[in-house]
Amino acid sequence: MYKDTPIIFELATKSKASRYIRPLDVPKPDFSSWFGKAYRAEEPNIPDVDEISVVRHYTNLSNKNYHVEIGTYPLGSCTMKYNPKVNEDLAALSGFAATHPLQPDQTVQGNLELLYHLEQLLNDVTGMDAYTFQPAAGAQGELAGVLLIKAYHEDHGNTKRNVMIIPDAAHGTNPATAAMVGYKVREVKSNSKGMVDLAELEKALGDDVAGLMLTNPNTLGIYEENIEKITKMVHDAGGLCYYDGANINAILMHARPGDMGFDCVHMNVHKSFSTPHGGGGPGAGPVGCKAILEPYLPRPVVRKKEESYYLDYDRPKTYGKVRSFVGSFGVLVKTYAYILRNGAEGLHQAAEGAVANSTYLRERLKHAYRVPYDTPSMHEFVMTAEWQKEKYDCNTIDIVKRLIDFGFHPPTIYFPLIVPEAMMLEPTETETWRDLDQLANAFLKIAKEAETNPELLKNAPHDTPISRPDETRAAREPILAG
Ligand SMILES: Cc1ncc(COP(=O)(O)O)c(C=O)c1O
Repeated sequence: MYKDTPIIFELATKSKASRYIRPLDVPKPDFSSWFGKAYRAEEPNIPDVDEISVVRHYTNLSNKNYHVEIGTYPLGSCTMKYNPKVNEDLAALSGFAATHPLQPDQTVQGNLELLYHLEQLLNDVTGMDAYTFQPAAGAQGELAGVLLIKAYHEDHGNTKRNVMIIPDAAHGTNPATAAMVGYKVREVKSNSKGMVDLAELEKALGDDVAGLMLTNPNTLGIYEENIEKITKMVHDAGGLCYYDGANINAILMHARPGDMGFDCVHMNVHKSFSTPHGGGGPGAGPVGCKAILEPYLPRPVVRKKEESYYLDYDRPKTYGKVRSFVGSFGVLVKTYAYILRNGAEGLHQAAEGAVANSTYLRERLKHAYRVPYDTPSMHEFVMTAEWQKEKYDCNTIDIVKRLIDFGFHPPTIYFPLIVPEAMMLEPTETETWRDLDQLANAFLKIAKEAETNPELLKNAPHDTPISRPDETRAAREPILAG
């Protein structure tokens, strides 16, 4: 399956390539006077490779990668779901793709109308009053949202509020964001149900609290049953409430952060809808807020006057920008296409599908692996390899490495930190029952192998070009050639 692939420079064969690109038979033009210093004096070092070798080279490389178009990718918290191809076709239409952010508003009325309408749709979905589309990813959305809270407090003279409360089941980007904005992080422990402990929250509240960031469903996949109580407690103490809506795919069209009492929210459109993640960017992490925070939104925002749409830069209270122009426009076109194609009913069903698939997988696996919290989970769940470690010395890493031999991408592991030997699975709503069963069968077979032949797990994977790289160095200092 895995063939050794040379680097493209090693494939250079001048003679064949020249069949397609003939040598110049006219005098070479002299552009140096046009471009001055920027003019390249030497030919670029591009390998001459014939077409079939180029196609095979990149196809082979892509076959070495694992992606959702090969199989199930149950990476919890990352929502690796299938992105319908029609999104790509629509975003590539020249009216969208061939426009420039510096064009005058009158020449891009269709694009502005799309953003204006998308803002209304997202307001409806989340119960907010306004949106910015600038952030390029979920974590940047958090930054943009928490900056709104900061700007609000500063504008209201609340200079002493310098603490952000964050439950221990929050996504790791929440405390990182709060710290980046300059807040001290005060952690609140979860109770035995895997939810915010209200007594602990009460203790954490005070007149130094700027707000609370809540990931819901949290990183255990659990929905906070006391969510309205939580937002009320924070508001009563003078703080504002931030909803990490990256996991909103679990509750779309069933519940809205705005109705639960939250003041702002970010969404990860790759998780909630169906756009490529963008490897940390450029994706999109729109941020919605209630009217009290609207004046501080980054500029520009898209507004409508009579029948025209325009970019409004005239915003005296804005805290500035988090990114250029209105954000990743192409990604937002895909978001819009997905929402319109599904409609309210389709989004409602997608959320139910995400929860049903995850619950099915959990039920099939819960007797072979331990599920640390009994509370029903939503779109993802966490199980642990504690039994396997204790009895057979097989750790989480051994189990998921063995999963690669069965043709699956491993789930997220050792996260959330509050569960030892954690495996966090999120199958998403796009997987079929057949795919889920194959994944469950592989996990069950591995649990048996841990009992009968633990060495098989310890040396896995057996069928990849590299078996167990140094995980840190492979990420920080990858060897990309040879
Ligand atoms: C709950 C939660 N919050 C925030 C993020 C950060 O999003 P991003 O990776 O787009 O920066 C993620 C990532 O998937 C997430 O699952």
